[in-house]
Amino acid sequence: MNYFCKDHDRAMKERIQFIGRGSWSRTGAWLGGLDKGSQNIFLLADENTARLCRPLFINMLPMAEAFRLITISAGEQHKTLETCRQVWSELEAQGAGRDSILINLGGGMVCDLGGFAASVYKRGIRHIHIPTSLLAQVDAAIGGKTGVNHLGLKNQIGSFRPAIRTLIEPAFLNTLPASHLREGLAEMVKTALVCNKSFWEEIRGSLNPCEKPPDSWIRTAALLKKNICDEDPYENGRRKILNFGHTVGHAIESYYLSVNKAVTHGEAVACGMKYESLLAVRLGIMNEADGQQITDFLDRHFPGDLIPAGQEEALCSLMRHDKKNLGTQIRFALCEKPGRTVFDVPVPETEILSLLRKL
Ligand SMILES: NC(=O)c1ccc[n+]([C@@H]2O[C@H](COP(=O)([O-])OP(=O)(O)OC[C@H]3O[C@@H](n4cnc5c(N)ncnc54)[C@H](O)[C@@H]3O)[C@@H](O)[C@H]2O)c1
Repeated sequence: MNYFCKDHDRAMKERIQFIGRGSWSRTGAWLGGLDKGSQNIFLLADENTARLCRPLFINMLPMAEAFRLITISAGEQHKTLETCRQVWSELEAQGAGRDSILINLGGGMVCDLGGFAASVYKRGIRHIHIPTSLLAQVDAAIGGKTGVNHLGLKNQIGSFRPAIRTLIEPAFLNTLPASHLREGLAEMVKTALVCNKSFWEEIRGSLNPCEKPPDSWIRTAALLKKNICDEDPYENGRRKILNFGHTVGHAIESYYLSVNKAVTHGEAVACGMKYESLLAVRLGIMNEADGQQITDFLDRHFPGDLIPAGQEEALCSLMRHDKKNLGTQIRFALCEKPGRTVFDVPVPETEILSLLRKL
């Protein structure tokens, strides 16, 4: 149910701008128009993106030097209310008002946390995303979901609040560790599988899909996501297809967070997609040949199994906290075949346990 008026719906529509080297001048003029003198623009970065991406940002847009920097610790374990408190305190100490703008320069962690911090600071200030990881450029910085982890559960505190603009600049990926490109690949694969067969075929046919992708892939993945989110900004219906791989994936992430072990979002989602494809085949939703094609691709590019033996019950219990559930019933978005997905599929826990136990 959507209780908001049409203007609100319009505001929920995303504005994405693809920037290439040299075309920052128009964006600079737009930013300058939003804030005379740049006194009101704050730049949120984590320690890595402050060091590696801010200099490039200033190089491309010299006025960015005047944006007041707030630096937070890097890593999923810092995507917490505690870190938000630090951001709010620094905004307050530096005199940020309701007309201030927070620019989130970073990966999905900075975008999620910065978007949430902005959405409630003084009842909401504007924010802009400048995603610097592939995963954030194709996924996290699009769609207006913000949030932080809470009590060991992923994104439990958050809001729907789109950035006033998401500026996608592939040049930021030049400093991203190669291993992180795979994270973004996982989300591009997901987007392709849930809604666009030809994009899936293009990715599948690529010789080195784990390398820095062509700009056209970033653009396609970002636009496919944007279109789905524009249609259903509050995830009441079709947007749920984007959760393919995430019911198992988020449980994996929450489990590893709880035992203080590192697992990345992309790895967890890739593993989630493998298990959820197997589940779709078990339930007769997907045919075996499609299931095999998908799991073969994922096994090749995301080898390894992240389901810890003996922890199947624990993972199932984490899935019970999934925000997509109704009551205590665990619900999945399951791919029927590449390009087509069903959502809100209730699956009994006995079936999930057998899946995770590989019975
Ligand atoms: N809101 C959404 O719709 C949505 C969707 C998918 C994922 N997410 C969230 O996104 C997060 C994962 O995002 P992520 O993979 O970008 O993780 P991240 O933001 O933690 O970034 C990964 C690492 O790369 C570093 N980094 C980022 N850009 C860099 C660059 N250009 N050069 C060098 N280092 C760089 C970061 O400092 C960090 O150490 C998770 O918290 C996940 O829940 C949100």
